[in-house]
Amino acid sequence: MQKKMKTVIIYISKHGTTEKVTRIIADKLNSGKTELVNLRNENLMDIEIFDRIIIGGSIHMASVHKKTKKFCELNNSILLKKTLGLFLCCMETGEKSIEQFENAFSENLRKHATSTALLGYEYNLDKMNFFERTLVKKISGSKESISEIDYKRIENFVTELENNK
Ligand SMILES: Cc1cc2nc3c(=O)[nH]c(=O)nc-3n(C[C@H](O)[C@H](O)[C@H](O)COP(=O)(O)O)c2cc1C
Repeated sequence: MQKKMKTVIIYISKHGTTEKVTRIIADKLNSGKTELVNLRNENLMDIEIFDRIIIGGSIHMASVHKKTKKFCELNNSILLKKTLGLFLCCMETGEKSIEQFENAFSENLRKHATSTALLGYEYNLDKMNFFERTLVKKISGSKESISEIDYKRIENFVTELENNK
């Protein structure tokens, strides 16, 4: 009998979008068991036990959370032995978004990853502080929350991972 694949999705989310995307990915993964780890609350973790590791984050002020960067640095050699998925939520598209992705994840991890993706963004005004809300309203030109999660890309991201067990 084929061994069941153990997956973990390790994420940080400021206003809930990356967490939402993480849950969607977990629901769509068919093979084996998937654990979710919020890196904001959990520091030490033995990731050796997992066959497949997915790391997700979001971009704020052009950077991914420093805990995500640190985690990738500390676990680099283990991550290079696993089936790996890397994703970001951010509002930028095109060259700027690629630049942000390249700053978030090192070249060796990006090259090793089975799937890498930009999965859209949200502006959850009700979860922001005054300064964030003011800034985002100015940038987006909207007084309303915005949801631009890219469901098609989530589907592709999951398919790529599932096809490379
Ligand atoms: C204060 C603030 C700054 C942001 N800065 C950037 C940025 O520099 N580049 C970008 O692509 N997206 C930026 N975004 C968009 C976020 O990446 C987007 O809202 C994302 O969905 C947040 O996900 P999270 O709630 O999981 O943290 C910013 C959002 C906020 C609220």
